[in-house]
Formats: sequence, structure tokens, C-alpha cells
Amino acid sequence: MESIQLKKNLKTIDLVLLGLGAVIGTGIFVVTGTAANSYAGPGLVFSFILAGFVIFLMGLCYAELAARFPVVGGPYAYMLQIAGKQIAWVAGWYTIWEYLLASASVASGWSGYMNGFLNGFNVALPIAFQASFNPEAGTYVDLIAVTMTLLITWLVSFEAKKALRLNNLMFFVKFAIIALFIIVGAFFVEPANWTPVMPFGFSGIASGAALVFFAFLGFDAISMAAEEVKDPQKSLPRGIFFAIGISTVLYIIVTLVLTGIVPYTELDVKDPVAFALRYVDQNVLASIISIGAILTLLTVLIAMLYGLARLLYAMSKGGLLPRYMSEVNPRTGVPVKATWTAGGLAAFFTGIVPLQQLAEITNLVTLVVMMMLAGGVIALRKREGKPTTGHFYVPFVPVLPLIAIVVTAYLLLQLSWITWLLFIIVSIIGAIIYWLYQRGSTLDV
Ligand code: ALA
Repeated sequence: MESIQLKKNLKTIDLVLLGLGAVIGTGIFVVTGTAANSYAGPGLVFSFILAGFVIFLMGLCYAELAARFPVVGGPYAYMLQIAGKQIAWVAGWYTIWEYLLASASVASGWSGYMNGFLNGFNVALPIAFQASFNPEAGTYVDLIAVTMTLLITWLVSFEAKKALRLNNLMFFVKFAIIALFIIVGAFFVEPANWTPVMPFGFSGIASGAALVFFAFLGFDAISMAAEEVKDPQKSLPRGIFFAIGISTVLYIIVTLVLTGIVPYTELDVKDPVAFALRYVDQNVLASIISIGAILTLLTVLIAMLYGLARLLYAMSKGGLLPRYMSEVNPRTGVPVKATWTAGGLAAFFTGIVPLQQLAEITNLVTLVVMMMLAGGVIALRKREGKPTTGHFYVPFVPVLPLIAIVVTAYLLLQLSWITWLLFIIVSIIGAIIYWLYQRGSTLDV
């Protein structure tokens, strides 16, 4: 695995900030609008609770594995230790897509806020370049999202570590705009907007959960820093749980305020949080929120592309992906070609695929990886028993991992057939690449 000799100086608090920097983004700032409008109505808050519960169970499994194997590489690295090359490849392949499509989704959400912000000044790109491919609506490519993805790729390709550090600073900006929204918004809540609570029934809540699950992704970015952590066995699990806990609480409150201000029927917008304040004529505050979102979503994109480039690098080093991706710039230590491969692909997808579709397929691949990890914990326990004292471990194995697998499967069943079709295509491409490259694999990782 990538062995960058870094100072082991990160503590729990750094990890929590890193996690929240990567987690809080498009999910809460953008996806909530569509999710409330088309799926769950004001009951979206229950969708967040359900998705938060699933992510908590998954976080338990992730935390045990991250504590047992404090190396860079995430699910790919864990499954390599537990179940061998084939399974590790599958986990790695889907994790690549998780990061790739999450990057594309974040860029797409970013463009929603940017377009909304520019419209405020009566500036607008030609319709054809305003959104992803949809000839009926006259849109062909989301130019802002593509441009921004390429710019961030360029940044990450030579200043990755510094760019990542921006995350910590941006967390405070993020937290400040969310607090601003909650405090100001609370005065404009009309409880009547919360009824009917579940206009689409429980199935709407479940489909909403399958969509907003996206908002929790990224906590695993914490494990990317595993080799820089002072006391990884303790700090990694704590970082994971704090990041999940804090984001869940924030999401619940933001959703309550959002659906309390704007009737869910009017939330089909690309910048719902800012829109809600415009809705109650708080235009200046709405602009501040837009600027904050525009700044902070970028750091999510940085974290995602950074993680993706390292994963491509690690897998290519083991011979499971084209070799060129493991070339490292001797001066900066950055896997430049892997970074551009990651960014180029993300730019392609963000340009033509709509956000909701991107988010759904991101969720699907992630849920599959999470299920594999839950299975991995059960298998590991059978083989090696509980971890040695001091390590975090999942309580009640195999019961909790099994519950995690069942609820994850339930969320998976909520996703649309087109998402499943895309998943099958991704899986077939993966099988072909594996077949092409596994012969050269040495797994010297
Ligand atoms: N959880 C991240 C976001 O919502 C991916 O942007």
C-alpha cells in the first residue's frame, strides 16, 4: 500500500474536521430539495434518520476495519487482507466509482449554486451549457461543472496536501452558513408546511433515504489519513462516529427548517437552502449562503478527487489497473496521471449526467461496498476473533453486521431500474478490466 512517510500528528479533532469537510456538501445543500419535492415531502427528516441509522451501522464496521488495518486504500485494502485479490478488486472497483461519481455529483451541485448566484446578477450562460444532457430542455453540457472539475483536478495534481488543508478552514465556513440558515430560518418556519407529513407514504420516506444517503458519504475519507494519525486505533473510530453523529444532527435540523419555510411542492430547485431564504425575502443572507456553499462545496470536491487519485494509484501499483496510474511526480510525490484520469472522468460525467442520477448510482455502488465490509467483519471475526485490547470492535457480531446488510439491501431495493442498469454496465466494465489486468498483477501493495 502507498507508504508515504508522513508525520503521525493528526488527532481525533483533525479527523472529525476532515470527515465533516468531506461529508457535508451537495447532499444537504442541493439534494434535499429534490428529495423533499419528489420523494418524501416534509417527512424527509425521517429519511435522514433512516439513512443516518444505516450509515451508523456501516460506520461501526468501517471503524473496526480502519482500526485493524490502519493503511491507506480503504475498502480495497481491507478486503485484500480479509478475502484476497478478487474480492478486493470488486470492493476497489466500486469504491473508485463511489468517489468518481460523488466528485461528479458535487461539481454538479456546485454548478447549481453558481448558476443561481449568477442569475441573481442577471448573468446567465447560454441554455445549452447550463445543465447536463437533456435535449428536450435544450441543455447539453453543464459547462460550469466541467470547468470547475478540471480546475480542481489541476489544483489537486500539484498541491494536494495544501488543498486538503483548506478543508479544515472551510469546515468553519460551512458550519457558519448552516448555523446562519438555522437561526434565521427558524423565525420563518410555518408549521403548516410540515403537513401532510408523509405525502408520498412510507415508501416515499424509504426512497428519500436511498437518495439522501448520499449526504453521509465521505466519512470514509478519514481512513485516507490513516498513516498520519497519532493513535489510529482510537482516533479513527472516534473520528468516524463524531463525523457521522454531527452531520446527522445538522441534517435533521436543516431539513426541519427547510421544509418548514418552503412548502415541499416548491422545493424542486438546485439551490434549496439559499432559495428558502430568498423565499422569505432575505436576499442578502441568501447570497451569503450561496457564496458559502460555493466555497465549501469545492473542498468536498478536493477531498473526493484526492482520495480517488490515491486509490487509483494504489490499485495500479498492485497491477490491477493500467501501470501509468502509479507513476508519481518525483518532486511533489503526487500521482499526477492518476489524478488527471480521475478528474477527466469526473468532468465527463458531471457534464452530461443529471445530479439526481449521479447521486443514486453513487449510493448504489457505495451501499454494495458497505455490505461487503459488513460481510468482511463477520468473516474476519470467524478467522481471527475479536481484535486485541484497545482496538475498536463492532459489538454483537454477527448480529449487527447482519442487520446492517439487511437494511442496506432494503435501501438498495428503493433505487430505480435505470440506476441498476447503470450498475450492471459498471460491473461488466469492471469484469473486463479485471480480466485484462489481473494477469499482470503482482499485488506488491
Ligand atoms: N456527502 C457528500 C456531499 O453531500 C458527498 O456532498
